[in-house]
Amino acid sequence: MIPDRVTLVDVGPRDGLQNEKQPVDAAHKIELVHRLQAAGLREIEVTSFVSPKWVPQMADNAEVMAGLQRQPGVRYSVLTPNMKGFEAALPSRPDEIVVFGAASEAFSQRNINCSIEESIERFRPVVQAARERRLKVRGAVSCALGCPYQGEVSPDEVERVVRLMKEIGVDHVGIADTIGVGTPRRVQAAMERALKHYPVADVSGHFHDTYGQAIGNVYASLELGVHTFDASIAGLGGCPYAKGATGNVATEDVVFLLHGLGIHTGIDLDRLVDAGKFISDVLGRKPVSRVANALLAKRGP
Ligand code: HMG
Ligand code: MG
Repeated sequence: MIPDRVTLVDVGPRDGLQNEKQPVDAAHKIELVHRLQAAGLREIEVTSFVSPKWVPQMADNAEVMAGLQRQPGVRYSVLTPNMKGFEAALPSRPDEIVVFGAASEAFSQRNINCSIEESIERFRPVVQAARERRLKVRGAVSCALGCPYQGEVSPDEVERVVRLMKEIGVDHVGIADTIGVGTPRRVQAAMERALKHYPVADVSGHFHDTYGQAIGNVYASLELGVHTFDASIAGLGGCPYAKGATGNVATEDVVFLLHGLGIHTGIDLDRLVDAGKFISDVLGRKPVSRVANALLAKRGP
């Protein structure tokens, strides 16, 4: 019963580049988005409107959004943790906004400086304002499989946040394994809690690959019918507030898995590998993607 079509959201420009120590200029970020859309990505998480004191890498948010040559049919999303972020994002005309909460209290405090309950109260007016403007709202549930400060996180804790997001009108929830410790059955247990409150089309997986489990966790989610995943070009990323957390599962690796399963993605793997090579060259390293490196080696010099 695995789905025959999957939508991938490339979060590399945001989740990936928010975590880079070396500055990446806006022109390269814009070029990355252009290459992702040329490869067939239809959903791209471009940047975040958060405090530049907390995440200086995203301080060029408006400049990056303004530089995009938008392609019809592509949805450009941005993170907005509060009304200040939402209002700052509006002139950039995002198609979708993302509020981000956590299943663990400790992570909520470290990442967004408030409790889970307070975060929901900050999101409430954001969601309402977004809905008035017919903007879609995604909600990320961080640390759904484990927390760098609290340790284990239970499916009950995941469901609590999912329920709160549903109550304030969030359209879609993403189950996020921030530190990559989830394994397939545990991922299914967390996903099942989300699926109690949201239709399968409005539940997605966001798996960091720190422990090498992310591809298995994508497959485990497909088994439940989940057909939307975040992934990050060249495996870029991490979270500045989760020490040691490495990037999201590489988009190239997920596309190879899905195409191997006969699942349609609309993505051209060769052009995707080019996009990953482009940003990896900018960063002066090889892509963190087994598939990309294998295909690049096959191409030769
Ligand atoms: P705060 O300090 O609690 O906010 O930060 P505040 O309302 O008390 O304001 C304090 C100062 O921040 C003020 O400035 C505000 O104007 C400013 P000052 O008067 O001191 O000069 N401020 C802002 N500036 C710009 N944009 C804003 C904004 N809000 C307040 N939106 C806040 C709360 C959430 C802003 C802060 O904690 C923050 O920016 N945190 C960064 C969170 C972040 O970006 N984390 C990484 C992304 S989440 C992630 O990676 C996880 C995910 O991938 C899923 C997963 O893998 O788990 C999504
Ligand atoms: Mg993340």
